[in-house]
Amino acid sequence: MKSSSTYIITIDGTSGSGKTTISKSLAKKLSFNLLDSGKLYRSAGFVYSLSKESFSDMNSIKELISKITILSNTDSNEYEIFFENNKIDHLLYSEEVSECASIVSKIPEVRECMMKIQKQCVRGKGLIANGRDMGTEVFPEANLKLYVDASLDIRAKRRYEELKSKGENVNFENVYKSLQKRDESDTNRSISPLRVPNNAEIIDTTDLKPNAIVDKILNLYTITKN
Ligand code: DC
Repeated sequence: MKSSSTYIITIDGTSGSGKTTISKSLAKKLSFNLLDSGKLYRSAGFVYSLSKESFSDMNSIKELISKITILSNTDSNEYEIFFENNKIDHLLYSEEVSECASIVSKIPEVRECMMKIQKQCVRGKGLIANGRDMGTEVFPEANLKLYVDASLDIRAKRRYEELKSKGENVNFENVYKSLQKRDESDTNRSISPLRVPNNAEIIDTTDLKPNAIVDKILNLYTITKN
């Protein structure tokens, strides 16, 4: 449950808008804990990839997901994810786990279990929670709600450069189309669709550099914390 002394900042927004970069920088500057809810859903996808047959039975889903635990890293402040007490963060970004995460994130019982884990993150001085439904569904009571967006063209350019810098053989048109498809499915899905939360500050990162965005959010934090 939200403790009145924990300041919560939610960062919802489109894919590739810069949510992760902004969240990490804010968590460092404010010494707040950081929850990347996408990573948490990926851990449910990882569990599903290990034992797909168990996901037909709700009790088994709950039992398997109860073996997922989180712990905040003392250097980065980011919640790391453990399955049966083994850290699994590095196993969550394969194509297979991405697909499995997309499947299980549509199961209401999985979202219910994730909700409980996400609520456990409210502790200490503050929490930065990023994802698609942080300000709308998970922490509607947050002290500061942000919705981060940028033009599709600039998001595709950023993603393309990022993948190229990792040595991947990418084609700009494919990156653009895949983000466009992701936008459509994120905003049109029936369960927890991507929406601008009530009372959220909309931050357009199209023409802003990460440092300028973080400074803008730190100003909002200073205004709202008193
Ligand atoms: O942001 P990401 O690619 O790491 O998210 C992984 C998957 O989890 C993606 O299929 C969307 C889903 N997800 C969700 O349903 N709700 C969230 N709050 C975060 C992610």
